[in-house]
Amino acid sequence: MCCFVVLVYLEWWFTAPSAVKAPRRDLNLMKALLNYSTTNSPISTATSEKLQRHLWYLSEELVGLTLFDEDVSLAMMRRMLESMKRQVEDEDEEPLKRCNRDLATLAVSQLDSFASPKTVRLFEKLHLATDFLEADPSSWGTNRTYRAAQDQLKTLKVVNDHAERG
Ligand SMILES: *[C@@H]1O[C@H](CO)[C@@H](O)[C@H](O)[C@H]1NC(C)=O
Ligand SMILES: *[C@@H]1O[C@H](CO)[C@@H](O)[C@H](O)[C@H]1NC(C)=O
Repeated sequence: MCCFVVLVYLEWWFTAPSAVKAPRRDLNLMKALLNYSTTNSPISTATSEKLQRHLWYLSEELVGLTLFDEDVSLAMMRRMLESMKRQVEDEDEEPLKRCNRDLATLAVSQLDSFASPKTVRLFEKLHLATDFLEADPSSWGTNRTYRAAQDQLKTLKVVNDHAERG
């Protein structure tokens, strides 16, 4: 238990409250848990199966928070935008509330694969302007629309994390 806490858990415990970092952090945590099988297979299996039922931030909508995560590369931001522009067949269907991929798929998944044309609904629900989506991510840092949205989203906390700490 101590090894697991020191090698894996601590880092995530301290970064869990940030909502804009949650999609990337959750996916990376899942990969770290799966990789932990080389150290301790039972702990890896138990923890990754547990986290698999809590991947709300890797839903089609909430993965959009990634666009405001300063630790995500420009290349990944561009790929996210491409995923948001691709054609979909089920335009009217409700987006998945929670990621439902199996563990083997999650181990090799990248953030952009969770984004879709429905990701933009996150911005609609939060009443945020989206004109910056038309520009290249390299220009977002000086775009007032983007900066205003970022300031607002940075104050967004992961509710479940706060509830559990409370
Ligand atoms: C995977 O686990 C090995 C052995 O425990 C460790 O050395 C390596 O840094 C881990 N890789 C990642 C990406 O966490
Ligand atoms: C943000 O970028 C978009 C796309 O280039 C542009 O239309 C918009 O005017 C910019 N907004 C501001 C406030 O700079």
